[in-house]
Amino acid sequence: MNDPKRITITAALPYTNGPVHIGHLAGVYVPADIYARYQRLVGMDVAFVCGSDEHGVPITIKAKKEGISPQEVVDKYHEIIKNSFEEFGITFDNYSRTSAKIHHDTASRFFKKLYDDGKFVEEVTEQLYDDEAKQFLADRFVVGTCPKCGYEESYGDQCENCGTSHNATDLINPKSAISGAKPVKKETKHWFLPLDQYEDWLKEWILIGHKKDWKTNVYGQCKSWIDDGLRPRAVTRDLDWGIPVPVEGAEGKVLYVWFDAPIGYISSTREWAEREGKDWEPYWKSEDTKLLHFIGKDNIVFHCIIFPAMLKAEGSYIVPDNVPANEFLNLEGNKISTSKNWAVWLHEYLQEFPGQQDVLRYVLTANAPETKDNDFTWADFQARNNNELVAIFGNFINRVVVLTNKYYDGETPQPAEFTTIDGETLDELRAAPEVIASSIERYRFREAQTKLMDVARLGNKYLADEEPWKTIKTDEARTKTVMYVALQIAAALAVLSEPFLPHTSAKLNRILGNTESVPPTKWKDVSEKKELITPGHHIGKGELLFSKIEDEKIQEQLAKLEASKKENKAMNATAEPQKDEITFDDFTKLDMRVGTIISAEKMPKTKKLLVLQVDTGIDKRTIVSGIAESFTAEEVVGKRVTVLVNLAPRALRGVESEGMILMTETPVGKLVFVNPDDDVPNGVKIS
Ligand code: 2FM
Ligand code: ZN
Repeated sequence: MNDPKRITITAALPYTNGPVHIGHLAGVYVPADIYARYQRLVGMDVAFVCGSDEHGVPITIKAKKEGISPQEVVDKYHEIIKNSFEEFGITFDNYSRTSAKIHHDTASRFFKKLYDDGKFVEEVTEQLYDDEAKQFLADRFVVGTCPKCGYEESYGDQCENCGTSHNATDLINPKSAISGAKPVKKETKHWFLPLDQYEDWLKEWILIGHKKDWKTNVYGQCKSWIDDGLRPRAVTRDLDWGIPVPVEGAEGKVLYVWFDAPIGYISSTREWAEREGKDWEPYWKSEDTKLLHFIGKDNIVFHCIIFPAMLKAEGSYIVPDNVPANEFLNLEGNKISTSKNWAVWLHEYLQEFPGQQDVLRYVLTANAPETKDNDFTWADFQARNNNELVAIFGNFINRVVVLTNKYYDGETPQPAEFTTIDGETLDELRAAPEVIASSIERYRFREAQTKLMDVARLGNKYLADEEPWKTIKTDEARTKTVMYVALQIAAALAVLSEPFLPHTSAKLNRILGNTESVPPTKWKDVSEKKELITPGHHIGKGELLFSKIEDEKIQEQLAKLEASKKENKAMNATAEPQKDEITFDDFTKLDMRVGTIISAEKMPKTKKLLVLQVDTGIDKRTIVSGIAESFTAEEVVGKRVTVLVNLAPRALRGVESEGMILMTETPVGKLVFVNPDDDVPNGVKIS
């Protein structure tokens, strides 16, 4: 679309059944925020909206699991998600929630308009029903084999493996996710959106109209659905959590979550407009508005086929100009999973890496799954911070600031004659905004960020070639010119980095001494203005833009993931099979006593062994125990323990061990002592 007057940017409404993780950020929120920030910087009228998706089966499942109400679930996660987005620097103009009254009104009215206009097909059909739980099984309440790809854990409405969207009755061997029972079929009335009636229009709009400008993954999925033939989709459900269907004869029924959620974008825009005293309608109804949906690939069918068909059916809305959907981000080689706690949670990251929002933004953009699934690793996170942000961007700014303060007391020097290299460097700098913008406009955020880093590289190369630290001794005029040019690059970086690294950009503006009276450079200034920092302008003192991330910090994160892995393993683990039978006599041969550890020391040059002195009640003896990875020597002194005292002595690393301390292991691999509950004296027998 050429020259839109305004842009409405939507970011997928996150389900409020858990916090937001790096997969959500990389796929949706960081690219959407880069885009929105950039558009605002170039003066576009932007409405960037989002909100919590609070209906749907995942919420009710979570509530059941936790023994709380769905409302309590959504209240809890809405707060966490909203606050962490804010702290991370995602600049939604409005973040709403689908339980808000304005949303219930908007969604009900939307449904009612389609209903009154005869756009739905009303039909009594047989739907899956759980006779034990006395409940219809829609969407995630039912799992079975996907009719398209054969995946055995497909949900009722969508297969997570191949992305196909289907009806629950299409599943092969369906099973209730509530009781595990085989569902029966029961008649119920629902309203269907006849997607088949929109097939020709969708073909024209997407397959012909957007063949060239939509991403191949998005276009490809749409083509495949349309080629397979579209069928009517039920937009209501027999559930008790959601927006009641606003027509007579629909008691006990609610709107399908995928009918109400995208309307949440409209409600959020309305809420924003009311607050700002604006008219919301042009943002959704005017032909000179560019509408964009930022989503993950599992949401493509809903944003490219179903929601547009709803908007078309309503009649007064525009449809999206583009849907720049991303693929998925994996974590350390495995699929991110909320239920398996295999994720980096945003709210935890913010606590564990305070003030380092931009590092995560940078790494997620550098690895954005734009054309294929990608992997996040903590090693790469560390390397990109230390080798790129610190060593390239931070290093350049640090050199410019330190040298300007050292040579000129922080005052921007007056340049002398420009050499060819100065001219070329400034020309390259002036071309940068357009180069970066062109990538952003085409939704290539990785490429755009690389071009931004090229500006910092340009600065580093310029300083390395012109060596002001050498010319300062021989040629004052030349040094002034070089520092002047370097300061221009720093000023450009302050604005060009804003969409990607907003916290850094703000810091850099502070360092460069930009205040209200000397406003920061604007995006267009970089190419249009001859001078971004004028001679005589005072910059501030240095402040570290980025700091090195040490190995220890990375190890902590890897240990967290390792713990999740163990926990999952333990949850899935079955008890070890029983050993071979023994006789009672065999058992009575074991002499086990209660004892107390009276002293302990680490066995030198070993990782696992502690040398313990144990009071067994019979005597005080030495026992070497392999517990040093779970306990320090100090921790175990005084511990009550169970000792196998008649085990034949054996020498371990030259120390004779006379017995064995009985231990067990928690599900996450931590050793624990087997000890008596009550206070019994040392030496009592265990039998
Ligand atoms: O996949 C999800 O997380 C959904 N909650 C996205 C909804 S997007 C929109 F339509 F609201
Ligand atoms: Zn499938």
